[in-house]
Amino acid sequence: MTDYKMMAEQVKTLAETDPWWVPMLSNISSLIYNTVPDLNWAGFYLINNGKLVVGPFQGKLACIHIEVGKGVCGTAVATNKLQKVDNVHEFAGHIACDAASNSEIVVPIHYEGKTVGVLDVDSPTLNRFTDEDASGLQEVVRTIEQVISWTCARA
Ligand code: SME
Repeated sequence: MTDYKMMAEQVKTLAETDPWWVPMLSNISSLIYNTVPDLNWAGFYLINNGKLVVGPFQGKLACIHIEVGKGVCGTAVATNKLQKVDNVHEFAGHIACDAASNSEIVVPIHYEGKTVGVLDVDSPTLNRFTDEDASGLQEVVRTIEQVISWTCARA
């Protein structure tokens, strides 16, 4: 089982080394991709001009823009709710960036009460993610949100 508490601690350490979002989210995508077993994509989409735009990630080339309300990522933003999808082929409007993806978790990221992006984690295995993965990744995102609020407060 993945130690998400330790992962959240590592996120804090990465942010202390350099809190700018580019190195921080780049290394977090690598941390998740290389720590959580059986993934084919892990990374971020960030809100820019009202749309999701791909951010730092690990995995194959990804769609660059996703409209709010479209796909699993856009649905997470529109509903402001974590999406745990056991079979992406049964999710109406799923956007298949990598044909290998079969299940997925998307967690909204907030700053000052607004959704500023999402963490998106995909697996080639159906039903890959448990409720523990969902709460663990939620914990990692909470840590990212704390880090964003310190760094924006300091800037
Ligand atoms: N599957 C996502 C699109 C992004 S890729 O998986 C990287 C979706 O439907 O939102």
